[in-house]
Amino acid sequence: MKEKISTLLSQVEAFNASSLEELEAFRIKYLSKKGLIPALFDDFRTVAPEIRKEMGQLLNALKNTAQERIVALRENMEVATQETKSDKDLTLPSMASLGTRHPLSIVRSEIIDIFARIGFTISEGPEIEDDFHNFTALNFPEEHPARDMQDTFFIEKNPDLALRTHTSSVQVRVMEKNQPPIRTISPGRVFRNEAISARAHCIFHQVEGLYVDTNVSFADLKQTLFYFAKELFGEHTQIRFRPSYFPFTEPSAEMDVSCNICGGSGCNICKYTGWVEILGCGMVDPAVLEACHINSEKYTGFAFGMGIERITMLKYQINDLRLFFENDVRFLRQFKSAF
Ligand code: PHE
Repeated sequence: MKEKISTLLSQVEAFNASSLEELEAFRIKYLSKKGLIPALFDDFRTVAPEIRKEMGQLLNALKNTAQERIVALRENMEVATQETKSDKDLTLPSMASLGTRHPLSIVRSEIIDIFARIGFTISEGPEIEDDFHNFTALNFPEEHPARDMQDTFFIEKNPDLALRTHTSSVQVRVMEKNQPPIRTISPGRVFRNEAISARAHCIFHQVEGLYVDTNVSFADLKQTLFYFAKELFGEHTQIRFRPSYFPFTEPSAEMDVSCNICGGSGCNICKYTGWVEILGCGMVDPAVLEACHINSEKYTGFAFGMGIERITMLKYQINDLRLFFENDVRFLRQFKSAF
């Protein structure tokens, strides 16, 4: 028996396999139920008691060696196949590509940068706002449609709270805490209960601007926004104002810029008008100043608000707003910026 064991042991130790099939054949031959090693265990039952202990140890050692041999050979084979299958050329220089910023972040940074150069600070406010800051202080009458569930996301447990529908709520917060001169812009997310389409989304981004001081006039508003438009869209950009209405500004206007795609001659982006609307603005209504404890006899101010999505779409000729929220890298990868 001892001889048998040592013959098998040397066979096991010498065994080498070049394929998984060979390895499996080896396992069956030596270790399966009817294999050579279990057969020795059967013989072991009839071994004389004096040598039982020695034989038992030898047998166990044989079995363990065979099992270990299989494991070791299998591991070797796996490593080898991984290496040959790998499509990585380890001699190539690093392929890691730099990430890019989201187009909305790029344009937001550009807008902030332009206003920062002419002395505007940045302020922020909460996305969950109370009725006072989002509506009442901004002169929204009780029955204004924006106060309707259809347009605004109210917080179920507390109808005084809603997701802010515009960044004008931040104006109120800034004016409550500071006396003029105030010169600030407020970028942020806003929420409206709209059906999602290529042109509308229930979440979007705005930048609000507010300037309050003595002797601030509509001419200041125009000049500031003219400077802004030229900085953002290029030196040759023209602007025009159309009368409009917002509860919190009087007079109110909407500002168009000459279409930066066709230069004003007409294309499908500007719907052949040569102009595209980019923001709402106006002189801060004295009632708003008063609601924020600012003396409307002494101070005047202007405010404006723009949608970052809309401006980004114009700047980059993107025709579907939903692309901003899908985070498809094939889309995002196209934007490179210094910001
Ligand atoms: N809050 C307005 C809107 O969301 C924009 C606006 C801001 C208009 C400030 C005038 C002044 O449409």
